[in-house]
Amino acid sequence: MSNHHIAVAIDGPAASGKSTVAKRLAKQLGLIMVNTGAMYRAVAWATIQKGVDPSDTAAVVAMLSSVEFRCGVTEMLSTVLVDGADPGEELRQDAVNGRVSKVAAIPEVRALLVKMQRDYLELGSVVMEGRDIGSVVFPDTPFKMYIDASESVRRMRRAAEGIIDDPTARDKEDSERKSSPLVIAEGAVVIDSSELTIEEVVEQAVGVLAERGAPQEILDRVR
Ligand code: DC
Repeated sequence: MSNHHIAVAIDGPAASGKSTVAKRLAKQLGLIMVNTGAMYRAVAWATIQKGVDPSDTAAVVAMLSSVEFRCGVTEMLSTVLVDGADPGEELRQDAVNGRVSKVAAIPEVRALLVKMQRDYLELGSVVMEGRDIGSVVFPDTPFKMYIDASESVRRMRRAAEGIIDDPTARDKEDSERKSSPLVIAEGAVVIDSSELTIEEVVEQAVGVLAERGAPQEILDRVR
């Protein structure tokens, strides 16, 4: 890694609980929490604003040079602005859910966002969640976890959130794409969250960090 900052990589399928766990873990450890799904969602959202067909790769790639995507941090959480505007809750819209896997499969989109994701490490230590964090963004970090959950549990979690989404259809697209598909990264510890509470998953994650030699000053922050 380029400096003394550490990257905790948390990957897994949709609705596996990884976002909730990543948020709690980052908060407990005082690290920056980076939600990379929001960045891919921001690109999908921009295609809606600009009337770009997400299946038209050339048009999406052209859009990347005409729209400014800017990533930052507010109160230790990652933010993304599209031409200076914050899409906010609109990133969770059905229309975005329906487009995001298409734009995420485009190598140029991934190259742009992966660079921004790596840049976060200049700001501080991070907990970063996504699909390719341990495999592509930070392949050298020892702190890698893959949070999984059974299909039925994942469907229930999405329904409980009141979100119309088909996590399995998205996971199929995300796992079968050529460019950085969802995989269990080499060296990642798999945690199945189906039968665990959030606290139990976070506890296991902290255990992984301790076992793999995370700095004591970070581990000491766990209350
Ligand atoms: O985590 P999420 O459900 O908000 O992610 C939205 C989509 O973005 C997901 O279907 C796949 C894509 N994604 C990706 O390809 N790579 C990442 N690192 C994060 C998300």
